[in-house]
Amino acid sequence: MRSILVVNSKGGCGKTTLATNLAGYYAVRGKNVALVDFDPQESSMDWLDARGGDRAPITGIAASREPVRIPKNTDYVIMDSPAALHGRPLADLVRRADTILMPILPSPIDVRAAKTFLTEVNKLRKVVNADVKFATVANRVRENTLAAQDLNEYLDALQLPSGKKLPFLAGLRASQNYIRAAEKGLSIFEFAPVKTLPDRDQWARIFRWINKVGKT
Ligand SMILES: Nc1ncnc2c1ncn2[C@@H]1O[C@H](COP(=O)(O)OP(=O)(O)OP(=O)(O)O)[C@@H](O)[C@H]1O
Ligand SMILES: [Mg+2]
Repeated sequence: MRSILVVNSKGGCGKTTLATNLAGYYAVRGKNVALVDFDPQESSMDWLDARGGDRAPITGIAASREPVRIPKNTDYVIMDSPAALHGRPLADLVRRADTILMPILPSPIDVRAAKTFLTEVNKLRKVVNADVKFATVANRVRENTLAAQDLNEYLDALQLPSGKKLPFLAGLRASQNYIRAAEKGLSIFEFAPVKTLPDRDQWARIFRWINKVGKT
């Protein structure tokens, strides 16, 4: 069983988008998926409510109001987390994960905040879960904009105090596909490939990394 935590204390950076697309991806591949929503706003649970009954099933757990009981035979546990998560509640989630993905918007303000937060996660990791794999994903990258041009520069700033850089997996472009998918309780992997090709290519790097670190 894999346990993937999507986390960033910054609001609106794409945690739910990443979590629901991960869940949808594995579900359409026939995996048993539990989507655990630790955010009292329950955006991931709303997404699941919008999902048609004819779609690949995903088990939803609203962790802010019900016990987290992962069904037997679950292949992937995807954990969505709330904004402004720090300290003990953050440590509790880090402890549950074997893999952490952190979406970051490529703006100077978000990158600065991300740097502080990833230092906190990294410290925690040493205390509660030294084996957890941790990587960042730039989200809502606008092609041909200043933000995109400066992405590399921003990501260079994302190093730990030790000077070590975290793996940077991919830049997910800003796309209506994510907005349409969110509305319908779908992942982009449930749309026609021809409409989502650039997005799928970007995600391929994320899945490759998840598979690779799962084997180490
Ligand atoms: N790559 C993208 N392209 C277009 N829209 C996006 C993309 N990623 C996220 N969005 C949109 O941005 C908004 C915020 O994303 P999301 O809800 O995933 O962030 P969040 O980190 O979960 O927010 P919160 O901290 O409030 O839980 C949503 O409306 C979502 O559909
Ligand atoms: Mg969210």
